[in-house]
Formats: sequence, C-alpha cells, structure tokens
Amino acid sequence: MNNSAPNSANTSADTDRKYVLHPFTNLSGHEDLGPFTIVGGEGIYVDDDKGNRLVEAMSGLWCTSLGFSESRLVDAAMAQFKKLPYSHLFSHRSTQPAIELSERLVEIAPEGISRAFLVNSGSEAVDSAIKMVWYYFNALGLPKKKRLIARKRSYHGVTVAAGSLTGLPYAQNGFDLPAIDVMHCETPHYYRNGRDGESEAEFTDRIVNELEQQILDADPDTIGAFFAEPVMGAGGVLIPPAHYFEKVQAVLKKHNILFVADEVICGFGRTGNMWGCDTYNIKPDMITCAKQLSSAYQPIGAVLISERMYDAFVSGSNTHGVFGTGNTYGGHPVASAVALETLNIYRDDNMLEHVRTVSKTFMKRIGEFGSHPLVGDARGIGLIGAFELVKDKSTKEQFPPSDKVAAQVMAAARQHGLITRALPGDGVGVCPPLIITETQINDMFDRYQLALDTVHQKLSG
Ligand SMILES: Cc1ncc(COP(=O)(O)O)c(C=O)c1O
Repeated sequence: MNNSAPNSANTSADTDRKYVLHPFTNLSGHEDLGPFTIVGGEGIYVDDDKGNRLVEAMSGLWCTSLGFSESRLVDAAMAQFKKLPYSHLFSHRSTQPAIELSERLVEIAPEGISRAFLVNSGSEAVDSAIKMVWYYFNALGLPKKKRLIARKRSYHGVTVAAGSLTGLPYAQNGFDLPAIDVMHCETPHYYRNGRDGESEAEFTDRIVNELEQQILDADPDTIGAFFAEPVMGAGGVLIPPAHYFEKVQAVLKKHNILFVADEVICGFGRTGNMWGCDTYNIKPDMITCAKQLSSAYQPIGAVLISERMYDAFVSGSNTHGVFGTGNTYGGHPVASAVALETLNIYRDDNMLEHVRTVSKTFMKRIGEFGSHPLVGDARGIGLIGAFELVKDKSTKEQFPPSDKVAAQVMAAARQHGLITRALPGDGVGVCPPLIITETQINDMFDRYQLALDTVHQKLSG
C-alpha cells in the first residue's frame, strides 16, 4: 500500500480535522486518526487520496449497488438537471420523473401495495411511516393504537422517531432516545440467543411466544405497528430463522397490528429477490426503502403503502383538510430520474438473476470461513453476510469489548485493500456492490482471509 500522502492530501486532512463534524465517528479518536478520504471509484473499487485502490466490500453504507462508475446514472441526472432541476409534489403539483418512479415502485412492490410516498433518506422514510401509522389509526377511530414494536439490535435510522425504533444503544446513548413509545422485542439471532439444547425451531417459537406475551401485557389495543428489517443489517447481518416471519405475522394479524418492512438495505435485490419480503414470505402493510433505490447516486427513499392504508388516509384528509406531511425535496426530479434509471438498469441487466447466480460462490466462500479459528458464525444470503468473531469457537465466548477485535479486522482489511465494517457483537460485514463478478467475489474473500489471518496471528502471538 502507498502510505506517502501527497501534500494536498495532508492539507485536506488537517482541514477535515478542523471543520468537519463526522457522523457515527469517535470524535476524539478522529483528532488522532484523521479522515480516510475517498477521491474516486470504478466498478466495485474506490480510490483513496493516497493512491490506494480498495474493494468497497460494504457498498459504501450498504447502498452503491451499481458500483462507482455507472455512466447511465450520471447521464440520467444530467438530462434531468437540464430539463427541470427542481420542482415539488405539494398541493397537487407533480413532475414526470416522480410520477413514473411511483408507478414503477408500485409495479415491482409486493402484492397489495398501491401508492408511493417519496422522501430523501431511509430515516425519513421510517419517520414518515411512523407518522402514517398514527394517522391511519386516528382515521380509523382507534386513537389508542400508537405504540410501536421493533427488535433489539434493529437499525431504522437516526431521526427522533426512527432513532427511537432503532434498537442499538450506540445510536441512542446521549441523545435521550427512545423519545416515543417503543417496545423492543428479542432479536431473531439463533446463534447468539438460542439456549443450550434448543433447536432453531424451538428458539423461533419461544421468541414469537414472548413477542405475543409482550403484546398482551402491553394491551394489543395500544399497539399500532411492528417494524422489521427482513435481514437486520447494521445490527450484525442477522438472518432470520426459518418461518420466523410467518409466525410473527400470524401474531400481529390476530391483534390488528400493522407490519412495516424496513427494506432500506434489503430492497432491490440484496437478498436475491426484489424485496426481502419476497425472500421471507412477508406480506407487508407498508415498506420503507432507500439506498439501492438509486444505487445511492442521489439521496432518495420511499414509503410504499397498501390500498387499505391509502383509503384511510383519504378519509383522514377529508377530516383534516390536507395530508399534512412531506418534504421540500421529497420526490426531487433529479433523484427520481436517477432512481428510475437505476430500476431500468436492474431490469435491463437482469440484476436479480445475476445476484442469484453469483450468490452461490458468495455463500460457498462465506460458509468456508466457519472453520476459521476466529469465526464462530459465518452467515449470509444473496449478497449480504457477516462473520461473527469469537474467542472460543466451542463455547461461543466473546472477546472482551476492549479488544475491539472486529475493528482490528477492519483495520487489517484496509492494509489488504479491502473496506469492510465492524458490526455490533464482533461482527464483520460483507455487502459488496450487486454488480460484483464471481472472480471479484473470490478476490474479495481472499482479502478477508488475509485480514482475519493477520488479526488471528496477532492475537495468538
Ligand atoms: C434498515 C435501515 N433503515 C433505515 C436506515 C436509515 O437510512 P438513512 O441513513 O438513509 O437515513 C438504514 C441505514 O442504514 C437502514 O439500514
């Protein structure tokens, strides 16, 4: 690796230290470490300001599905900038890109979804969905049904309401969250939460029974919706056990609780189907999505809702005058045009087929890491996965948090030209751009191997 920084890079690193407040960053640590600055990219690779080319094995933040040099998206943005750089969707106004994108989203959405509400990010999608749950039950004359359920270790974003749903302490500590009425239920992570001697099916039944008991204890008439990522991403890439979602949905249906599928990571092919809902037989009342919707080339997200909810919104709006929520940039024409072109590329390039094909190599390679001395659990689906690092494979004993072992792997990976991410529970994430080829998958996992070996040698030496 080339570690001699040109002067301009040094200067901009100093300027960064001086002026930039970084999200999800240890602020005092940043004063020592400085920024890791990316200056360009091509395909699945990004280039840093020191001249290194790295495999972007996290697709940025689980989002750059088409990699870093898709000219069709650049052209779509330019064409729309020239035609109409801005307009909005308030008060009956509309634009052609927003109309076409909404139609396409409904066309590809799971059965029963009939409208799209365009926003700018995943957090905004989740926040809007929370407001819609409340609006829906008010319109139905069930104003007590306002509490929400999310899972421990879930990630639903950072705004005050979405950040309250998020079940990860590091995203709440110091911010007085949760700030709305949220109940967190058990994480469907058999490897870590299954009891001794408990089969996966028994584990699933137990946590679904516990969920129902929580609902009964809290009073089902006070609970509006259950929010869930089909595969929990930022919490550690936690793959649900077989039939977990069918069983959860049966409980929710019994108690008239809506199912909101947070597809911000899973949506648009990540699990090998268009939606995580398709992969796990989820019949959602609402979907939140973002990220791969535009391959992250423009900030855009959406809330997709069922006709049943839409009908209630119409009756609510008859009472209240307007459906009083939305954002200046929601459905921005340039972002919508780029999202539409992203969906065109998925279709033209048979992206789902591609993911299913290369996923075979991805899953084979990830599975082989199960025998690595540092890896307790190696898991994945489609093109998303993780390794869970343990001190003792037979007892699943974890490393002391102070060892920061996943962060050590992340740092070692960088030395081997690989960008990965440390996840809660000593997880190390794998989430490459969907365009990755079989050869590149093998090369990427060879680099993971080197990173794990480096840390293992250090720990055992
Ligand atoms: C499942 C899920 N929901 C919501 C969000 C929040 O999205 P954003 O960062 O665009 O606000 C994320 C971000 O990673 C996510 O993974």
